[in-house]
Amino acid sequence: MILDILKDRFILALTGLIDNPESYSDLIRPSQDAKFGDFQANLAMPLAKKLSKQPREVAAEIVARLKIDDLCQPPEIAGPGFINLRLRNEFLVDLLRKAIDDENRLGVTVIEPSKRKTYLVDYSGPNVAKPMHVGHVRSTVIGNAITRMLQFWGHHVITDNHLGDWGTQFGMIIYGYRNFLDRESYQKNPVEELSRVYRVVRQKTDEPDNEIAAAVLAETAKLHAGNADNLKLWNEVLPYSMDEINRIYQRFHISFDYTLGESFYHNMLGNIVDDLLKRGIARETDGAVGVFFDGEEVPMLIRKKDGAFLYGTTDLATICYRMETFKPDAILYVVDFRQSLHFEHLFKTVRLMGIENIELTHIKFGTVLSEDGKPFKTRSGDTVGLNGLLNEAEKRALEIVQSNDKLGLSQSEQLETARRIGIGAIVYADLSQNRESDYVFSYDKMLAMNGNTATYMQYAFARVRSIFVKGNIDIKELRTKTEKLMLTEPAERALALELLRFGEAIELALRDYRPNFLTAYLFELANRYSVFFEQCPVLKAANDDLKISRLLLCDLTARILQKGLELLGIETVEKM
Ligand code: ARG
Repeated sequence: MILDILKDRFILALTGLIDNPESYSDLIRPSQDAKFGDFQANLAMPLAKKLSKQPREVAAEIVARLKIDDLCQPPEIAGPGFINLRLRNEFLVDLLRKAIDDENRLGVTVIEPSKRKTYLVDYSGPNVAKPMHVGHVRSTVIGNAITRMLQFWGHHVITDNHLGDWGTQFGMIIYGYRNFLDRESYQKNPVEELSRVYRVVRQKTDEPDNEIAAAVLAETAKLHAGNADNLKLWNEVLPYSMDEINRIYQRFHISFDYTLGESFYHNMLGNIVDDLLKRGIARETDGAVGVFFDGEEVPMLIRKKDGAFLYGTTDLATICYRMETFKPDAILYVVDFRQSLHFEHLFKTVRLMGIENIELTHIKFGTVLSEDGKPFKTRSGDTVGLNGLLNEAEKRALEIVQSNDKLGLSQSEQLETARRIGIGAIVYADLSQNRESDYVFSYDKMLAMNGNTATYMQYAFARVRSIFVKGNIDIKELRTKTEKLMLTEPAERALALELLRFGEAIELALRDYRPNFLTAYLFELANRYSVFFEQCPVLKAANDDLKISRLLLCDLTARILQKGLELLGIETVEKM
């Protein structure tokens, strides 16, 4: 990647001038404005302080030591001591050639083996038998994108879906099943009937002074204690609910390496509590057991007064199991920001247990809002509603597809195209946000043909691809002609620079697990392509060599758009 190459050269130049030159290399950045060149190094100012010299003087010294002629025009010193770099076209062309020849990675270097880590990504985690929340869609979409990017970067990634399959919702279902189930509806549509029963019980337990709440807890406790009837019911209803959840995953093309729900850890919880008590990490409080933290009043409870274990107990057992089984370097939790305190406490407890050699990160995200600014709820508030949500996006996408009758798509092709556009719109709308912000769910916005949407990006991709059809171009053959590559117009150069920044964008997105850095990059790439396409005739280029060169730029643009979208979990379409 360009930035890495430039950094290396600066590090060489700084060696001998200052201690740990690496720490300054982050001050080399793409220029904000093309008139200051392509990259700017702002390291003379902080170095001047260190060396007690004038910044411009230091800048001159650095430039004198810098061996960079093969990559750049002679560096220019501007203002108080900025070093402006303008890359040579030959250097850019050389990198473009490498990217074109690089079938799978498009010029993005894979990390060194020594930097390769094992990540465990804990995402999605819906609560089985409870209405799946749009928040779980966020977790699913963000977790999937992070997984794909980490894998592409060269890491080893294990995904684990920490299903909520052991909570009080089962007490509700069990109680409801015995008291309110409509047999006939259950036979016809078990999921719908179970979620109706769940809602009935839920509502009743919310009412003040009712015995049902106690009965529900009793059923849950019986299940946890291994009561045969309750376990049998649990085993009966679980698959129905899982089928429904799996249907959603299938629509997103998502699968997990492991689906070890809360129930999996059930037998390990007693030991965890005993162990923490024995080691003095946890102590009794009002009959319950909790872990206390310095300077904090609230403990993390790990066993209730009545002996029941908690969400946090299961998470502790989960970490122990994962450490033993997968030996990860990092565990990432893609979970709603409202669980921040839970994860803070969880991670602190792990450190108290003396476990240091692991990264634990809560990748938090905000709430999905409806257009009135309130938290978004699907109509019926259940999984059926979530499938309905995806249906609606696909339906609207189909209208877009059908409105262009020049495409010549068969009916099944139309449907497949609409599926990709509809699902892609939902995924991209989520990923293009700063994940910590709330965002408004709007079909109109997410399916807009213009702006930072999947639809725009898919359209850009399809448009590039259509050139090859129109010009009857053999792409394989084209890719063997990289010797023709040249950058003649500013718009070509601007596009080329962006094409060569793909790796940088992924690195940025992975730094703090923020997929919106990748969407922002793809948006900028599509925009630069648009300018290029307006200003530089491709099929009608002035001569054959130029035509080939421009087609190569088009092709690389399409490939990077496609790969970038793929890393986000979005499919492309050939025609739209
Ligand atoms: N089931 C949880 C919820 O719906 C999410 C699980 C997240 N993962 C974890 N290890 N706690 O809130």
